[in-house]
Amino acid sequence: MTKLVSGFSKLTKSEKIDWLTHTYLNGDSKAKQTILQYWNSDDKLQSLHDDFIENTISNFYLPLGVAPNFSINEKIYAIPMVIEESSVVAAASKAAKFWEARGGFKTEVISTEKIGQVHFTYNGEFSELHGFFKRIKSQIIEDSKPITKNMDQRGGGIKDIVLVNKTKDLKNYYQLHATFETLDAMGANFINTCLEQFANTLKSNAHQLKNDLNIVMSILSNYVPNCLVKASVSCKVSELTDQETDANEFAEKFVQAVNIAKIEPYRAVTHNKGIMNGIDAVVLATGNDFRAVEAGVHAYASKDGKYSSLTHAKIEADTFTFWIELPLALGTVGGLTKLHPLVKLALNILDNPSAKDLMQIAAVAGLAQNFAALRSLVTTGIQEGHMKMHLMNILNQFNASAEEKTLIVNQFKTETVTHSAVVNAIEKLRR
Ligand code: MEV
Repeated sequence: MTKLVSGFSKLTKSEKIDWLTHTYLNGDSKAKQTILQYWNSDDKLQSLHDDFIENTISNFYLPLGVAPNFSINEKIYAIPMVIEESSVVAAASKAAKFWEARGGFKTEVISTEKIGQVHFTYNGEFSELHGFFKRIKSQIIEDSKPITKNMDQRGGGIKDIVLVNKTKDLKNYYQLHATFETLDAMGANFINTCLEQFANTLKSNAHQLKNDLNIVMSILSNYVPNCLVKASVSCKVSELTDQETDANEFAEKFVQAVNIAKIEPYRAVTHNKGIMNGIDAVVLATGNDFRAVEAGVHAYASKDGKYSSLTHAKIEADTFTFWIELPLALGTVGGLTKLHPLVKLALNILDNPSAKDLMQIAAVAGLAQNFAALRSLVTTGIQEGHMKMHLMNILNQFNASAEEKTLIVNQFKTETVTHSAVVNAIEKLRR
């Protein structure tokens, strides 16, 4: 039986499911049931979700949690987080509470510039191309006015367009490198529409040149090193302690852990992954593009030629300071923000932030996550907390009843959680 299909997108949802279960799942009625089980009973809501992408067959749930008690520039937030990994929300909440008692998080947006490029080739002299660009630059901007009008009125728009000669790296290769201010929008559509218009103007004036100019492509860049946000926490070293750990020893180990991530890429990747646990969760909850954020953040982590830590820590004059600086191109208008009811809710919980506010909130979630991870790593080790949270996953795998859960969670308050120990406990209880 062929597994190929043509005209799949034209089938109804129910035909798609029948084809899929029949072709790939041996007509398994349970599989079909699983797919249907996740449909929303509200038809309108379901159809809204169906229309987000193509060939939708069902919904894929991820938990939406909330980490309360975040003090950011003296304002208190409960941060919505969408993530499947146990212990991330708990860690964020713990870090939030810890720092709330020590002055809270301080943040600032350093810059908000977005970037897009028209990539093209010209097989003539650079000086000629340069003269041509100087002549038509104002027309490029003028021709884009119908697209930029609204954004201009709100104080955003095109900041500049420069011609970049890349022929040293690639024969005949040039760029129009454009910078934008997109205010509360992430701006991908706005930027791409502008860039395609720039390319049109370039092409339609190319007859003024002696040689061939060819547009290769026009696209925004997800590398936004000038769309930067900083978040920090700081306190006296002596205030870092809870009863169990010595404050000086903890602070020094913590700084050392950050310094290791600065110089050791194997560690830096995991260190930054932990940061992204917090950031992605906020980015997802607020309907932003986590792939764009991930790509841009990791490129930034390599900006000095070697992959390194996104966070920094120091002890100076008995004061411990821990901070993060990273690029985050986020939006709070457009995209899913008004469409997805849970995204709308998440933004409401955050008091309907501007894009700048959201950059700061996401950066804080990342810093908090990194603080929590390093705190565990340099003291008890990560597994203690992780396995405590993982306990519930194991119990659910075994379909534990509420009563079984209570008994076993109590038992493991004093015992080390391992998969086999939990399985043994369940079996013993059921015997
Ligand atoms: C796990 O999701 C994240 C950590 O590995 C981060 C880290 O090692 O810093 C705990």
